[in-house]
Amino acid sequence: MPKSLSFIIFGASGDLTKRKLFSALLDIFSEKHLPEKFEIVGVGRTPYSDSEYRDYLLGQLPKYTKPEAWDNELINSFISHIRYETMDPAKEEEYSPLVEHLKTSNSESVIYYLATPPLLYGVIPQHLKTFGLNGENTRIIVEKPFGYDLSSAKQLNAIYRDAFQEHQVFRMDHFLGKETAQNILAFRFANSIFEPIWNRNYIDYIEITSVENLGIENRGGYYETAGTMRDMVQNHLVQLLALCTMEPPVKFDADSFRNEVVKVYDSLVPLTEDYIRENVIRGQYTAGGDKVAYRQEAHVAPDSRVETFFAMKAEIDNWRWSGVPFFFRVGKQMPTKVTEIVVHFKKVHHLLLDNVNGANPHANKLVLRIQPNEGIVLRFDMKLPGTGFQTKQVEMDFVYDRLSDVKTGDPYARLIEDCLLNDPTLFTRGDAVESSWKYFDAILDYWKKYPEAPLYGYPAGTWGPLESNALIESVNGNWTNPC
Ligand code: BG6
Repeated sequence: MPKSLSFIIFGASGDLTKRKLFSALLDIFSEKHLPEKFEIVGVGRTPYSDSEYRDYLLGQLPKYTKPEAWDNELINSFISHIRYETMDPAKEEEYSPLVEHLKTSNSESVIYYLATPPLLYGVIPQHLKTFGLNGENTRIIVEKPFGYDLSSAKQLNAIYRDAFQEHQVFRMDHFLGKETAQNILAFRFANSIFEPIWNRNYIDYIEITSVENLGIENRGGYYETAGTMRDMVQNHLVQLLALCTMEPPVKFDADSFRNEVVKVYDSLVPLTEDYIRENVIRGQYTAGGDKVAYRQEAHVAPDSRVETFFAMKAEIDNWRWSGVPFFFRVGKQMPTKVTEIVVHFKKVHHLLLDNVNGANPHANKLVLRIQPNEGIVLRFDMKLPGTGFQTKQVEMDFVYDRLSDVKTGDPYARLIEDCLLNDPTLFTRGDAVESSWKYFDAILDYWKKYPEAPLYGYPAGTWGPLESNALIESVNGNWTNPC
């Protein structure tokens, strides 16, 4: 742990900062995991004095902080570490006050957090380099999406590698900070009853769903340039896929773990146009209940063809997974907010069960509930009491809430703390970002080449376009809709 820290937030008056970053920093502060001497400097275009910014935060924090964290003495002490610099981070000529400030603070460690619109991800590191604010004692955390496609991700990587060394760059994917996501590895590799069957011989297919019952809120401008695939799939969902499918890393350290992630991405079967036509579905929410259509949201074009729903079948061509389909499903304005992975095991075939008294055993299902109601459910068949041999599917479940002595922490707090400790294991490495874009670029190219490719409407509050059902019906399955 460094003796002193300056934590600089670019995009300090933005949504992410107020929703996630300050409550995470408060968590770390309340755990006494920040150096004794630290400052948080918000940087943004909205003009604030230090005290105005603190007042703004005091107004926002209660909305995004757990009530149990709201201890007046703690908050006042935390707030006293916060400063603000009014500047436009895109403009080189506005950096002098920040440069002066950092000189005066002379902290042992400096962390820059880019919580700005992605447009600024390229320009800020260049300016930091120009002013020599990129020394060995600095690290930079950059939010996703890292790049807009493969070529822009390569350009960004080149900029970051020019300004910093790879070990100073922390590409944030907050899904990796979730305990339940990390637990996928423990579940797979710490349990001898699951590890041997975690492959194509026993697993039929896997669903990875991450849906929300919110719209785009006030992020229309960003969403119009991103869409669901860039916002969620190219990063969060493939990361979950990697955790589900990677080989066991020899150690849990940055290189061993991230090498295995890249191998998964490199093994994804490249997408041809024909494949995309058949196996990728995009949708956009229309009005439903009291919710307006996507096209009526602020800063959204009235004829926008940006997707708010995305589903696809992906395949991995390696020894363990060849032939096993993986289904992604992501959407805004769906009936609920849930992220979960459903592993469908192959059905057994045995005369006793297939033919006796109409018995028709179900396939085993394992549900890894990433959020909410974090836990794991195993569905298995039992014999129904009585004559005959009919079976019924029942469940065994574990919920994290039952662990009274530990709580699942906040993913942002976990990752910011890892950065503070200089541990990049749970951050995305530059080559992984490029490998993932390489795969998804084919879809972006396809949509560009065939702009008239279907974009299905679905009423807000429903499970997405009905056309997505056909995808999973191709393996005789149905989407598992959590309630
Ligand atoms: C963010 C996306 O990365 O993840 C948002 O930009 C999305 O659009 C959010 O709402 C979901 O994160 P979580 O942790 O709330 O599931």
